[in-house]
Amino acid sequence: MTYLITGAAGFIGAALAEKLLRDGKTVYGLDNLNDYYSVALKQERIEQLQQLGGDRFIFRKVDLANYTQLLEYVGESQPAVILHMAAQASVRHALKNPQAYCHSNLVGHFNMLEVCRQYQEQHPKKFKHFVYASTSSIYGGNEKTPFEETDDVSRPVSLYAATKRADELMTYTYSHTFNLPATAVRFFTVYGPWGRPDMSPWLFASAILDNRPIPVFNHGDLWRDFTYVDDIVEGVIRLSDHIPQKTEKNPPHEIYNIGNNQPIKLLDYIQKMGKILGKEPILDLQEWPPTEVYKTYADTSKLETAIGWKPSTSLESGLQKFADWFVPYYTQQKS
Ligand SMILES: NC(=O)c1ccc[n+]([C@@H]2O[C@H](COP(=O)([O-])OP(=O)(O)OC[C@H]3O[C@@H](n4cnc5c(N)ncnc54)[C@H](O)[C@@H]3O)[C@@H](O)[C@H]2O)c1
Repeated sequence: MTYLITGAAGFIGAALAEKLLRDGKTVYGLDNLNDYYSVALKQERIEQLQQLGGDRFIFRKVDLANYTQLLEYVGESQPAVILHMAAQASVRHALKNPQAYCHSNLVGHFNMLEVCRQYQEQHPKKFKHFVYASTSSIYGGNEKTPFEETDDVSRPVSLYAATKRADELMTYTYSHTFNLPATAVRFFTVYGPWGRPDMSPWLFASAILDNRPIPVFNHGDLWRDFTYVDDIVEGVIRLSDHIPQKTEKNPPHEIYNIGNNQPIKLLDYIQKMGKILGKEPILDLQEWPPTEVYKTYADTSKLETAIGWKPSTSLESGLQKFADWFVPYYTQQKS
C-alpha cells in the first residue's frame, strides 16, 4: 500500500514515515522545509528516512500553497492513503507570524482538499482515505474535562486553534459534498525522540542541562495530557485502516482524540524531567499567557470503541526514551 505524508520532515510526519517504512510500505513524503525551527533537524529526519527506506521512500520539497505542484505530486505518487501532517504548529508563534497559519493551515489545507477531490474523481479505486492532524488546542475555553469529540469547540483561544477548527469544518463540507472519506485526529501534546525544539520537552530539558531558568506559566498550575509519539503513530496508522462510512445522516467524516488520558500538572512534569536528567530545575514562575488552555485531557472512549486500542506509554518511560535521545543529540549540537 502506498502512503503520502505531508510534513514528512516534521516531528510526527517523520515518525509516521519511519513506522510505515519499517512495515514494508512505500511512502511518498513532502515538506516545504520552512525555517520555523532548525532546517538542519528537518533534513536529518529526511536523511534517516532515505537510509531506512531506500527506494521505498520518495521525498520532494513542495509547499502546500503551491496547488499545481501539489496536484502533480499526488498524481505521481498515486497514494491509497494521505496522512496530512504539514501545518504551522504552536499556539504562541501566531502572535509573531499570523500569516504563516493562513498560508499553511488555511490555504494549504484547502489545497489538500481540492487535490483529494480531484484525485478521488480520477482514481476512485485507488484513493481510500484522507487522515489529517488536528489538535487538543481547539477545545480552547471548554471547561468540561475530559474533552470529548462532541464537546463545544466554538471558543478557540489561539489563531492556531481557530485555523485547525476551520480545517475540520472545511473537511466536513468536502466529505459531505464530494463523499470524501476523511478522519481528523486531535493530538494531545506529543513528545518523544526527534521532537520539536519549540516544545516544552526540548525547551525544559535544554534549560535544565544548561542550568538556565525555565519560564513556568501560571506558576506551574497548567495541566497537559502528554502523549508519546509512538502512541500517536500507532493510533494514526490504525485509524487510517478504519475508513469512515457514509450513513443516511452523516458524510464519511470522523473526528478522534488521541491523547494519553492522564494529564499531569506542569510543575510535576518539570520535576520528573529534572529527576530523569539528574539535575534540579531552576524555575522562573510567570503569569498565564492568553493563548494557553488551562488543562488538556483526552477522553479516548470513541477511539477505543473504533479500533480497540488507546495510548499506553507512561510519562516516566516516554520521558526516559526522550532523554536517551535528547542528551547526546543536544550535547553534540552544542559542541
Ligand atoms: N506536536 C504536537 O504536540 C501536536 C499537537 C497537536 C497537533 N499537532 C499537529 O500535528 C501535525 C504535525 O505536527 P509536528 O509536531 O510534527 O510539527 P512540525 O512543525 O514538526 O511538522 C510540520 C511540518 O510541516 C511542514 N510544513 C509547514 N507548512 C508547510 C507548507 N505550507 N507546505 C509544506 N510543508 C509545510 C513543516 O516544514 C514541518 O516539517 C501538525 O498538523 C500539528 O498542528 C501536533
